[in-house]
Amino acid sequence: MNKILVTGGCGYIGSHTIIDLLDNGFEVISVDNLYNADESALDGIEKITGKRIKNYVVDLCDLEATKQIFQENQDIIGIIHFAALKSVGESVEQPLLYFRNNLNSLLNILDCMIQFRVSNIIFSSSCSVYGNATELPVTEDTPWQEAESPYARTKQMGEQIIHDVLRGNPILQSVLLRYFNPAGAHPSALIGESPRNVASNLVPVITETAIGKRPETVVFGADYPTRDGSCIRDFIHIMDLAHAHTLALQYLLQNNNEKQVEVFNLGIGEGVSVLEAIHAFEKVTGENLNYRIGERRPGDVVAIYANLNKAADKLGWQPAYNIEDIMRSAWAWEQARSNNGIVIFMLL
Ligand code: NAD
Ligand code: WQD
Repeated sequence: MNKILVTGGCGYIGSHTIIDLLDNGFEVISVDNLYNADESALDGIEKITGKRIKNYVVDLCDLEATKQIFQENQDIIGIIHFAALKSVGESVEQPLLYFRNNLNSLLNILDCMIQFRVSNIIFSSSCSVYGNATELPVTEDTPWQEAESPYARTKQMGEQIIHDVLRGNPILQSVLLRYFNPAGAHPSALIGESPRNVASNLVPVITETAIGKRPETVVFGADYPTRDGSCIRDFIHIMDLAHAHTLALQYLLQNNNEKQVEVFNLGIGEGVSVLEAIHAFEKVTGENLNYRIGERRPGDVVAIYANLNKAADKLGWQPAYNIEDIMRSAWAWEQARSNNGIVIFMLL
């Protein structure tokens, strides 16, 4: 009795978390409609762990199809709900798409949990719930500001929905994990971030520039009131993030939670500026990155980083990797997937 349903298991964070779950003795099934992924991550997981994960290609907005998964797997003991659309810019252009997908999928999962009596859910939230935070580092109690995008609002609303639904259903309990800036890849370079959408996050932009997929990296503003003028973020290695999910799940399964819904920040607790991140990449790879300073990007917060004391105290979580490790693994993954592309091209 240790089966976990991972939603969005073919995606970036889901696929890395599955490896950590398998390493810790859990059985995993996935549901992913492949909107922003393909099933190649499952091949990578199989190479790394020797286990093939079953993925249901189902849209979680389809309640009947979602129920069918629970019907077939009545031994699910917990859910890690990653599935969501996550592009901030796209959410501004298509807010309805984001509200419909991110909220309906969550409602359907909660509905199934109640119907099939599955008690435990870990929810992927985001530092974007804090908006332009008024205090740094942000703790779990830092008040939320206005959401900067419809995407961020789906995370604020998702958290509120979980609070309200669980209040009326005492058998349910949840951990809400607010990720800061996840980056990097599995050390094997067999899986990493490979979205169908064009990458817009800093680390893939850097590696794609260095490998020649894009001509340059533009630093969005170097006139902010920070130590070097560029924005400050809390970059967290994907494997540290993955392990936090296993710990959060064990915490719920062992009923160590004091409240029905517990919230944790997941960052490494250190601010790294955009320019420092670029220099870390150059240092560990020996590459000279073609970058230039450009205009500010609308909607960017100046600086945000986490206070991670709560996750350390209650989950026993300690991030092991720093920005240099992140860049090293992201670069290895970029090289590996580019080589794969060449091999596929030659085979064609
Ligand atoms: P991702 O896009 O790589 O993975 C999400 C997966 O969910 C995709 O494979 C997609 O196909 C699937 N999916 C989306 N809607 C679905 C639906 N209706 N039914 C079934 N599958 C669906 O994203 P990720 O980076 O792995 O993010 C995972 C979660 O973490 C998301 O909820 C995201 O909002 C959150 N998050 C991500 C970041 C980040 O920077 N990557 C930061 C904070 C929070
Ligand atoms: C990081 C820094 C950019 C690209 C986003 C979401 C947030 C969360 C994490 C999901 C910023 C700068 C970037 C580039 C740059 N995701 N940058 N040139 O915006 O901090 O957070 O991902 O929940 O909700 O908003 O991440 O990687 O886009 O940017 O200078 O080409 O890098 O201005 O300061 P962000 P990011």
